[in-house]
Amino acid sequence: MTAQPSDSALYALPKAELHLHIEGTLEPELAFELAARNGVSLPYDSVEQLAEQYEFSDLQSFLDLYYATMDVLRTEDDFAELTRRYLRTASEQGVRHAELFFDPQAHVERGIPIEAVVDGISGAIAEGERDLGISGGLILCFLRDQPVESADAILSAALTRPDRLLGVGLDSAEVGYPPELFRDVFARARDAGLHAVAHAGEEGPPAYIVQALDVLGVERIDHGIRAIEDPALLDRLAEEAVPLTVCPLSNVRLRTVPELAAHPLHRLEEAGVLVTINSDDPAYFGGYIGENYTAVRDALGLTADQAERYARTSIHASFASTARKAELQQAVDAWRG
Ligand code: ADE
Ligand code: ZN
Repeated sequence: MTAQPSDSALYALPKAELHLHIEGTLEPELAFELAARNGVSLPYDSVEQLAEQYEFSDLQSFLDLYYATMDVLRTEDDFAELTRRYLRTASEQGVRHAELFFDPQAHVERGIPIEAVVDGISGAIAEGERDLGISGGLILCFLRDQPVESADAILSAALTRPDRLLGVGLDSAEVGYPPELFRDVFARARDAGLHAVAHAGEEGPPAYIVQALDVLGVERIDHGIRAIEDPALLDRLAEEAVPLTVCPLSNVRLRTVPELAAHPLHRLEEAGVLVTINSDDPAYFGGYIGENYTAVRDALGLTADQAERYARTSIHASFASTARKAELQQAVDAWRG
Protein backbone atom coordinates (compact mmCIF):
# COMPACT_ATOMS: atom_id res chain seq x y z
CA MET A 1 0.00 0.00 0.00
CA THR A 2 1.23 3.49 -0.84
CA ALA A 3 2.49 5.29 2.26
CA GLN A 4 0.10 8.01 3.28
CA PRO A 5 1.28 11.50 4.18
CA SER A 6 1.95 12.30 7.84
CA ASP A 7 -0.06 14.83 9.84
CA SER A 8 2.72 17.37 9.47
CA ALA A 9 2.95 16.84 5.70
CA LEU A 10 -0.80 17.37 5.33
CA TYR A 11 -0.69 20.48 7.52
CA ALA A 12 2.23 21.87 5.52
CA LEU A 13 0.47 21.30 2.18
CA PRO A 14 -0.34 24.79 0.82
CA LYS A 15 -4.10 25.08 0.39
CA ALA A 16 -7.09 27.42 0.16
CA GLU A 17 -9.98 27.39 2.62
CA LEU A 18 -13.20 28.11 0.73
CA HIS A 19 -15.88 27.08 3.22
CA LEU A 20 -15.37 28.57 6.65
CA HIS A 21 -17.94 30.46 8.73
CA ILE A 22 -15.92 32.88 10.84
CA GLU A 23 -18.54 32.68 13.61
CA GLY A 24 -18.00 28.92 13.55
CA THR A 25 -14.41 29.43 14.73
CA LEU A 26 -15.60 30.71 18.11
CA GLU A 27 -13.86 28.34 20.53
CA PRO A 28 -15.48 27.86 23.95
CA GLU A 29 -12.49 29.56 25.66
CA LEU A 30 -12.87 32.70 23.54
CA ALA A 31 -16.65 32.64 24.02
CA PHE A 32 -16.11 32.81 27.80
CA GLU A 33 -13.44 35.52 27.47
CA LEU A 34 -15.72 37.69 25.34
CA ALA A 35 -18.72 37.01 27.57
CA ALA A 36 -16.74 38.30 30.57
CA ARG A 37 -15.41 41.29 28.66
CA ASN A 38 -18.85 42.27 27.36
CA GLY A 39 -20.92 41.43 30.44
CA VAL A 40 -22.88 38.76 28.58
CA SER A 41 -24.02 35.76 30.58
CA LEU A 42 -23.72 32.38 28.88
CA PRO A 43 -26.12 29.69 30.13
CA TYR A 44 -23.17 27.39 31.03
CA ASP A 45 -20.98 27.25 34.14
CA SER A 46 -17.70 26.57 32.39
CA VAL A 47 -15.82 26.19 29.13
CA GLU A 48 -16.08 22.42 29.60
CA GLN A 49 -19.83 22.57 30.05
CA LEU A 50 -20.20 24.63 26.86
CA ALA A 51 -17.95 22.19 24.97
CA GLU A 52 -20.15 19.33 26.20
CA GLN A 53 -23.05 20.81 24.22
CA TYR A 54 -21.25 20.09 20.94
CA GLU A 55 -23.22 16.95 20.25
CA PHE A 56 -25.58 17.49 17.34
CA SER A 57 -28.41 15.48 15.83
CA ASP A 58 -28.76 17.54 12.64
CA LEU A 59 -28.05 20.97 11.11
CA GLN A 60 -30.78 22.75 13.11
CA SER A 61 -29.53 21.45 16.47
CA PHE A 62 -26.13 22.95 15.64
CA LEU A 63 -27.56 26.24 14.35
CA ASP A 64 -29.48 26.74 17.61
CA LEU A 65 -26.22 26.70 19.60
CA TYR A 66 -24.25 28.59 16.91
CA TYR A 67 -26.65 31.56 16.88
CA ALA A 68 -27.02 31.59 20.69
CA THR A 69 -23.26 31.55 21.36
CA MET A 70 -22.43 34.29 18.86
CA ASP A 71 -24.23 36.69 21.20
CA VAL A 72 -20.86 37.21 22.93
CA LEU A 73 -19.54 38.92 19.76
CA ARG A 74 -20.33 42.58 20.33
CA THR A 75 -17.57 44.94 19.20
CA GLU A 76 -15.37 45.50 16.18
CA ASP A 77 -12.46 44.26 18.24
CA ASP A 78 -14.33 41.02 19.10
CA PHE A 79 -14.76 40.27 15.41
CA ALA A 80 -11.12 41.19 14.75
CA GLU A 81 -9.88 38.94 17.60
CA LEU A 82 -12.00 36.02 16.38
CA THR A 83 -10.61 36.40 12.87
CA ARG A 84 -7.00 36.85 14.04
CA ARG A 85 -7.17 33.62 16.02
CA TYR A 86 -8.67 31.72 13.10
CA LEU A 87 -6.02 32.99 10.68
CA ARG A 88 -3.21 32.02 13.06
CA THR A 89 -4.50 28.45 13.28
CA ALA A 90 -5.20 28.34 9.55
CA SER A 91 -1.66 29.49 8.80
CA GLU A 92 -0.26 26.66 10.98
CA GLN A 93 -2.32 24.25 8.89
CA GLY A 94 -1.10 25.40 5.49
CA VAL A 95 -3.88 27.80 4.53
CA ARG A 96 -2.46 30.43 2.15
CA HIS A 97 -5.77 31.82 0.90
CA ALA A 98 -9.00 32.01 2.91
CA GLU A 99 -12.44 33.13 1.79
CA LEU A 100 -14.43 33.68 4.97
CA PHE A 101 -18.20 33.49 5.26
CA PHE A 102 -19.95 35.74 7.73
CA ASP A 103 -23.62 36.04 8.76
CA PRO A 104 -24.29 39.78 9.23
CA GLN A 105 -28.07 39.41 9.63
CA ALA A 106 -27.46 37.43 12.82
CA HIS A 107 -25.47 40.37 14.22
CA VAL A 108 -27.50 43.30 12.94
CA GLU A 109 -30.69 41.83 14.42
CA ARG A 110 -28.92 41.91 17.82
CA GLY A 111 -28.20 45.61 17.40
CA ILE A 112 -24.57 45.29 16.25
CA PRO A 113 -23.77 47.75 13.43
CA ILE A 114 -22.73 46.01 10.22
CA GLU A 115 -19.70 48.34 10.09
CA ALA A 116 -18.35 46.86 13.34
CA VAL A 117 -18.67 43.36 11.88
CA VAL A 118 -17.19 44.12 8.47
CA ASP A 119 -14.42 46.42 9.74
CA GLY A 120 -13.39 43.97 12.46
CA ILE A 121 -13.18 40.95 10.18
CA SER A 122 -11.69 42.72 7.18
CA GLY A 123 -9.14 44.55 9.35
CA ALA A 124 -7.90 41.20 10.66
CA ILE A 125 -7.85 39.76 7.12
CA ALA A 126 -5.60 42.68 6.05
CA GLU A 127 -3.31 41.99 9.04
CA GLY A 128 -3.26 38.30 8.14
CA GLU A 129 -2.20 39.14 4.62
CA ARG A 130 0.62 41.32 5.91
CA ASP A 131 1.83 39.16 8.82
CA LEU A 132 1.01 35.61 7.69
CA GLY A 133 0.94 35.90 3.90
CA ILE A 134 -2.67 34.68 3.72
CA SER A 135 -4.67 36.25 0.92
CA GLY A 136 -8.45 36.17 0.83
CA GLY A 137 -11.63 38.03 1.51
CA LEU A 138 -15.15 38.06 2.83
CA ILE A 139 -18.29 36.38 1.54
CA LEU A 140 -21.54 37.73 2.96
CA CYS A 141 -24.03 34.91 3.54
CA PHE A 142 -27.77 35.48 3.48
CA LEU A 143 -29.71 33.49 6.07
CA ARG A 144 -32.14 31.47 3.97
CA ASP A 145 -34.49 30.88 6.93
CA GLN A 146 -34.99 34.66 7.33
CA PRO A 147 -37.35 36.69 5.12
CA VAL A 148 -35.98 37.67 1.72
CA GLU A 149 -36.58 41.34 2.63
CA SER A 150 -33.99 40.97 5.38
CA ALA A 151 -31.46 39.61 2.85
CA ASP A 152 -32.26 42.51 0.57
CA ALA A 153 -31.74 45.04 3.35
CA ILE A 154 -28.40 43.58 4.44
CA LEU A 155 -27.18 43.57 0.84
CA SER A 156 -28.10 47.24 0.48
CA ALA A 157 -26.23 48.03 3.70
CA ALA A 158 -23.18 46.05 2.56
CA LEU A 159 -23.16 47.56 -0.91
CA THR A 160 -22.37 50.96 0.53
CA ARG A 161 -18.80 49.54 0.66
CA PRO A 162 -18.69 46.82 -2.02
CA ASP A 163 -14.88 46.86 -2.03
CA ARG A 164 -14.95 45.04 1.32
CA LEU A 165 -16.68 41.99 -0.19
CA LEU A 166 -15.59 39.19 -2.48
CA GLY A 167 -19.03 37.69 -2.88
CA VAL A 168 -22.33 36.53 -1.45
CA GLY A 169 -23.47 33.12 -0.24
CA LEU A 170 -26.54 31.42 1.20
CA ASP A 171 -26.55 29.47 4.46
CA SER A 172 -28.52 28.43 7.58
CA ALA A 173 -31.39 25.90 7.69
CA GLU A 174 -31.67 24.41 4.21
CA VAL A 175 -34.69 22.13 3.93
CA GLY A 176 -37.85 24.11 3.11
CA TYR A 177 -35.85 27.17 1.98
CA PRO A 178 -35.06 26.57 -1.70
CA PRO A 179 -32.52 28.77 -3.47
CA GLU A 180 -35.14 30.22 -5.84
CA LEU A 181 -36.48 32.38 -2.99
CA PHE A 182 -33.30 34.43 -3.33
CA ARG A 183 -33.32 34.90 -7.10
CA ASP A 184 -33.59 38.71 -7.08
CA VAL A 185 -31.16 39.38 -4.26
CA PHE A 186 -28.49 37.21 -5.92
CA ALA A 187 -29.12 38.94 -9.26
CA ARG A 188 -28.53 42.30 -7.57
CA ALA A 189 -25.33 41.06 -5.91
CA ARG A 190 -24.00 39.66 -9.19
CA ASP A 191 -24.88 42.91 -10.98
CA ALA A 192 -22.79 44.71 -8.37
CA GLY A 193 -19.81 42.59 -9.47
CA LEU A 194 -19.81 40.16 -6.55
CA HIS A 195 -19.07 36.45 -6.83
CA ALA A 196 -21.89 34.08 -5.87
CA VAL A 197 -21.86 30.76 -4.01
CA ALA A 198 -24.56 28.88 -2.08
CA HIS A 199 -24.92 26.05 0.40
CA ALA A 200 -26.95 23.35 -1.35
CA GLY A 201 -27.24 19.61 -1.05
CA GLU A 202 -25.99 19.51 2.55
CA GLU A 203 -29.30 18.31 4.03
CA GLY A 204 -31.42 19.50 1.10
CA PRO A 205 -32.12 17.52 -2.08
CA PRO A 206 -30.05 17.50 -5.29
CA ALA A 207 -32.76 19.72 -6.87
CA TYR A 208 -31.56 22.59 -4.64
CA ILE A 209 -28.10 22.28 -6.22
CA VAL A 210 -29.67 22.55 -9.67
CA GLN A 211 -31.65 25.62 -8.57
CA ALA A 212 -28.59 27.28 -7.07
CA LEU A 213 -26.86 26.92 -10.45
CA ASP A 214 -29.79 27.81 -12.70
CA VAL A 215 -31.58 30.44 -10.64
CA LEU A 216 -28.87 32.02 -8.50
CA GLY A 217 -26.02 31.69 -11.03
CA VAL A 218 -23.55 30.50 -8.40
CA GLU A 219 -19.95 29.66 -9.27
CA ARG A 220 -19.41 27.09 -6.52
CA ILE A 221 -21.66 24.87 -4.42
CA ASP A 222 -21.01 24.68 -0.69
CA HIS A 223 -21.27 21.07 0.53
CA GLY A 224 -23.16 19.63 -2.48
CA ILE A 225 -22.61 16.09 -1.21
CA ARG A 226 -26.15 14.97 -2.04
CA ALA A 227 -25.19 15.32 -5.73
CA ILE A 228 -23.92 11.76 -5.25
CA GLU A 229 -27.59 10.65 -5.41
CA ASP A 230 -28.11 12.08 -8.91
CA PRO A 231 -25.87 10.74 -11.73
CA ALA A 232 -27.13 13.33 -14.24
CA LEU A 233 -26.26 16.13 -11.83
CA LEU A 234 -22.80 14.63 -11.23
CA ASP A 235 -22.22 14.65 -14.99
CA ARG A 236 -23.34 18.27 -15.17
CA LEU A 237 -21.11 19.39 -12.27
CA ALA A 238 -18.17 17.62 -13.90
CA GLU A 239 -18.86 19.00 -17.38
CA GLU A 240 -19.43 22.57 -16.19
CA ALA A 241 -16.47 22.35 -13.78
CA VAL A 242 -18.51 23.55 -10.80
CA PRO A 243 -16.42 23.14 -7.64
CA LEU A 244 -17.87 21.70 -4.43
CA THR A 245 -16.59 22.93 -1.07
CA VAL A 246 -16.92 19.75 0.97
CA CYS A 247 -16.55 19.68 4.78
CA PRO A 248 -16.01 16.07 5.91
CA LEU A 249 -15.94 16.50 9.72
CA SER A 250 -18.99 18.78 9.58
CA ASN A 251 -20.95 16.18 7.63
CA VAL A 252 -20.20 13.56 10.27
CA ARG A 253 -21.00 15.83 13.23
CA LEU A 254 -24.29 17.01 11.66
CA ARG A 255 -25.09 13.44 10.66
CA THR A 256 -25.51 14.09 6.96
CA VAL A 257 -23.30 11.02 6.57
CA PRO A 258 -23.42 8.10 9.02
CA GLU A 259 -19.63 7.97 9.47
CA LEU A 260 -16.56 9.34 7.74
CA ALA A 261 -15.78 5.97 6.14
CA ALA A 262 -19.08 6.31 4.23
CA HIS A 263 -18.38 9.87 3.03
CA PRO A 264 -18.78 10.38 -0.75
CA LEU A 265 -15.72 12.72 -1.00
CA HIS A 266 -13.55 10.46 -3.17
CA ARG A 267 -16.55 9.14 -5.11
CA LEU A 268 -17.49 12.69 -6.08
CA GLU A 269 -13.96 13.26 -7.30
CA GLU A 270 -13.90 9.96 -9.18
CA ALA A 271 -17.07 11.14 -10.98
CA GLY A 272 -14.98 14.02 -12.35
CA VAL A 273 -16.28 16.74 -10.03
CA LEU A 274 -13.91 19.45 -8.72
CA VAL A 275 -13.86 18.68 -5.01
CA THR A 276 -12.19 20.64 -2.21
CA ILE A 277 -11.74 19.88 1.51
CA ASN A 278 -12.76 22.58 4.02
CA SER A 279 -13.67 23.02 7.66
CA ASP A 280 -17.11 24.78 7.87
CA ASP A 281 -17.40 25.53 11.64
CA PRO A 282 -14.17 24.08 13.04
CA ALA A 283 -14.68 25.12 16.69
CA TYR A 284 -17.87 23.06 16.77
CA PHE A 285 -16.99 20.09 14.57
CA GLY A 286 -13.74 18.81 16.03
CA GLY A 287 -11.13 20.30 13.78
CA TYR A 288 -9.72 22.84 11.39
CA ILE A 289 -8.74 22.17 7.79
CA GLY A 290 -5.63 20.16 8.70
CA GLU A 291 -7.72 17.86 10.88
CA ASN A 292 -10.17 17.43 8.01
CA TYR A 293 -7.32 16.24 5.78
CA THR A 294 -5.93 13.86 8.44
CA ALA A 295 -9.40 12.50 9.31
CA VAL A 296 -10.03 11.81 5.61
CA ARG A 297 -6.69 10.02 5.40
CA ASP A 298 -7.53 7.86 8.41
CA ALA A 299 -11.09 6.97 7.38
CA LEU A 300 -11.03 6.95 3.59
CA GLY A 301 -7.35 6.83 2.70
CA LEU A 302 -5.53 9.82 1.20
CA THR A 303 -2.36 9.40 -0.82
CA ALA A 304 0.04 12.28 -1.37
CA ASP A 305 -1.24 12.50 -4.97
CA GLN A 306 -4.85 12.78 -3.80
CA ALA A 307 -4.01 15.31 -1.11
CA GLU A 308 -2.09 17.36 -3.65
CA ARG A 309 -5.05 17.22 -6.04
CA TYR A 310 -7.52 18.43 -3.40
CA ALA A 311 -5.19 21.30 -2.48
CA ARG A 312 -4.60 22.27 -6.11
CA THR A 313 -8.34 22.20 -6.75
CA SER A 314 -8.94 24.48 -3.75
CA ILE A 315 -6.52 27.02 -5.23
CA HIS A 316 -8.04 26.69 -8.71
CA ALA A 317 -11.60 27.04 -7.35
CA SER A 318 -10.80 30.14 -5.28
CA PHE A 319 -11.56 33.71 -6.26
CA ALA A 320 -7.87 34.67 -6.03
CA SER A 321 -6.28 36.52 -8.95
CA THR A 322 -4.64 34.48 -11.72
CA ALA A 323 -1.21 35.64 -10.52
CA ARG A 324 -1.93 34.63 -6.91
CA LYS A 325 -3.24 31.24 -8.02
CA ALA A 326 -0.03 30.63 -9.99
CA GLU A 327 2.04 31.57 -6.94
CA LEU A 328 0.08 29.17 -4.74
CA GLN A 329 0.31 26.32 -7.27
CA GLN A 330 4.08 26.84 -7.24
CA ALA A 331 4.01 26.53 -3.47
CA VAL A 332 2.34 23.14 -3.95
CA ASP A 333 5.12 22.17 -6.42
CA ALA A 334 7.63 22.97 -3.68
CA TRP A 335 5.67 20.84 -1.16
CA ARG A 336 5.95 17.89 -3.55
CA GLY A 337 9.71 18.58 -3.81
N1 ADE B 1 -24.08 28.18 9.01
C1 ADE B 1 -22.95 27.83 9.65
N2 ADE B 1 -22.61 26.58 9.33
C2 ADE B 1 -23.54 26.12 8.46
C3 ADE B 1 -23.74 24.91 7.76
N3 ADE B 1 -22.93 23.86 7.89
N4 ADE B 1 -24.82 24.80 6.96
C4 ADE B 1 -25.65 25.82 6.83
N5 ADE B 1 -25.51 26.98 7.46
C5 ADE B 1 -24.46 27.14 8.26
ZN1 ZN C 1 -21.23 25.98 5.81
